[in-house]
Amino acid sequence: MKSVKVFAPATVANVVCGYDILGFAVNQPGDEVVMRLTGGKGISITKITGDEGKLPLDPEKNTVSASVQHYLNHIGMPDTGVEIELHKKMPIGSGLGSSSASTVAGLFAINTLFDNRLSNRDLVPFAMKGEELACGYGHADNVAPALMGGFVLIRSYEPLDIISLPFPQDFHAAIVYPEVDVPTKDARQMIRSKVQLKDAVTQWGNVAGLVSGLFLNDYGLIGRSMTDILVEPVRSILIPDFAVLKSLALENGGLGFGISGSGPSVFALTRDAETAAGITARLQQHLKKMDINSLAFVSEVNKKGPILLD
Ligand code: HSE
Repeated sequence: MKSVKVFAPATVANVVCGYDILGFAVNQPGDEVVMRLTGGKGISITKITGDEGKLPLDPEKNTVSASVQHYLNHIGMPDTGVEIELHKKMPIGSGLGSSSASTVAGLFAINTLFDNRLSNRDLVPFAMKGEELACGYGHADNVAPALMGGFVLIRSYEPLDIISLPFPQDFHAAIVYPEVDVPTKDARQMIRSKVQLKDAVTQWGNVAGLVSGLFLNDYGLIGRSMTDILVEPVRSILIPDFAVLKSLALENGGLGFGISGSGPSVFALTRDAETAAGITARLQQHLKKMDINSLAFVSEVNKKGPILLD
């Protein structure tokens, strides 16, 4: 029985101004999948750990098995017998691309078992199917960086056009997950579907500024472009004391600060691990004063995407 164990990274989607089009991967947290080809027929999920019983074991409802099935259909082996173990090593519904990390680990595992028939970039559409199942819309700003590593721009969805962006090599992310409930589906529904032209002008100026800043290694430009006038004002209402958290992050060396994905996690970009750790400590201290438990992660930008553990 052929078997592999895979790790896939968490991601920070949107990167403040780039709703659904920008994201980057981090080294931790992330999820693990163990996958075996059984020689029999059909996919089964034999074990899920770390999910507090929240995720479905039904292979049609679970994002990992559902996207693996899409992959198997695509390569013309729809009845392949596969056993999947999913080990959640990160909080669900945190805004850190939890479903994406699991799905990407699963796809990387099955692709490895089939001798890497597709490139990681070619796996993106299959992972988007998993996102569609998880939250109703197949956005790629978590799955593309989780598969490809680094900073990623989704230039277009139809047709899919994904660009890997350069980024300053000293970048670190300071991430804090306040333990409050913000399901991605709800956080997407609360956003206005129409925007004023003048607001769109401001927003695309910032997106272009952020991308230029990444190319130019211009930290000032990156920081001042991490401004979101469309989504953050609405979603930040769900995050306790968001404005205070933002001030604390920026006063303590953050280049820019915002919501990670659909929240409630927040993140800051910094130029070193020490500054990032200082920021997470301040934010956690503040959340503790409000009796809110939190988790913190400090990480470089992940450069590899998913990796084989065994
Ligand atoms: N771009 C998506 C959103 C990411 O903001 O809803 C979800 O994690």
